[in-house]
Amino acid sequence: MKTVFVTGGAGFIGSALVRLLMAQSEWRVINIDKLTYAGNLESLAAVAGNPRYLFSRTDVCDRAALDLLFAEHRPDGVIHLAAESHVDRSIHGPGEFIATNINGTYTLLEAARAHWQGLTGAERAAFRFHHVSTDEVYGSLGPTGLFSETTPYSPNSPYSASKAASDHLVRAWMHTYGLPVLVTNCSNNYGPYQFPEKLIPLMINNALAGKPLPIYGKGDNVRDWLYVDDHAQALRLVFERGLPGETYNIGGNAEKTNLEVIDALCALLDAQKPRGDGRSYREQKTYVTDRPGHDRRYAIDAGKIARELGWTPRDRFDAGLARTVAWYLANRDWVAHVESGEYRHWMEKNYAARYANEGKA
Ligand code: NAD
Ligand code: TYD
Repeated sequence: MKTVFVTGGAGFIGSALVRLLMAQSEWRVINIDKLTYAGNLESLAAVAGNPRYLFSRTDVCDRAALDLLFAEHRPDGVIHLAAESHVDRSIHGPGEFIATNINGTYTLLEAARAHWQGLTGAERAAFRFHHVSTDEVYGSLGPTGLFSETTPYSPNSPYSASKAASDHLVRAWMHTYGLPVLVTNCSNNYGPYQFPEKLIPLMINNALAGKPLPIYGKGDNVRDWLYVDDHAQALRLVFERGLPGETYNIGGNAEKTNLEVIDALCALLDAQKPRGDGRSYREQKTYVTDRPGHDRRYAIDAGKIARELGWTPRDRFDAGLARTVAWYLANRDWVAHVESGEYRHWMEKNYAARYANEGKA
């Protein structure tokens, strides 16, 4: 049985990838996650008892702990998602972004390189280090044009600058040491289990709680939305079939202004969970001070991954958004546990035995 390390597997995209690998592949998955505020093992409740799945509470900045994991599990590859991921947090406190996104990626690269250099023959040839990144490294687009794999890097926020730095490290580890790396740069994801600080789950939660829906600036910034399970499918494909040294852009072909997204969410909520007073959730829309350095528009040309690996997004935005709203309405417990802080203790309560390696990290 082949083993893959997934870092950040308790996060939004990482947990979708772990659930997919458990349901649709033969991979044995070691989920390496520090469990920051964004890590939520309740999102992995469905797979926690699977014998092909193991969780290790480990910081990717901890070289000694990583070395132990590599020695014990001898993985055939790594898919690296662990990161600080929220632009607003990076503006208020960039330190963690530098630590995890840059130093953590460096530390993981070095641990992976030491492991890979100890492999021989077919095992060494087949090893992959897949780095999961963002389209935000390319900066901001004007009204036209798309990001491609050859667009020059021009990151604007502490978050995107830290991700750009990590992409460059990964590239250099291939160029200098020959480590077989893959890089994917993806557009904005949405779907179930997203931490309610990001636009879509934040708007759903605020709407239901009767709070304002805070729109930065005029609400005319554009994002290219991708359903998270489509991203997870693309990640598996690139990891298993991508060419080492290549970058693949992953996008949803679904450009929307923030106002379009918020209006669509209000319409879905009006239909699925009408307000008690008969009025529309739209009335909660509130314009607030713009985010400093707010990137105007992101949009991906996902032609390369379509041509070379045959991937295109399955979900149309309207269908994916309706499913997402339905999920948040049906899973109020997941949200309530996040809001109360209870999610931080889910593993101890439910799977004490499999949590045994926490002390090592
Ligand atoms: P997330 O914030 O939901 O999850 C991040 C996970 O990483 C959490 O489980 C957290 O506990 C873990 N983590 C953080 N610091 C760690 C550390 N030092 N050691 C080990 N684990 C640590 O993020 P997400 O939205 O799932 O994003 C995952 C990856 O995809 C990130 O690398 C992000 O840059 C990238 N990405 C995200 C999007 C998006 O729209 N969310 C789009 C493109 C790319
Ligand atoms: P976000 O989900 O934070 O993702 P990113 O900044 O990585 O694209 O934000 C998506 C868009 O929504 C972005 O243009 C900022 C905007 N936004 C708001 O208008 N209000 C909010 O409360 C949030 C969180 C985001």
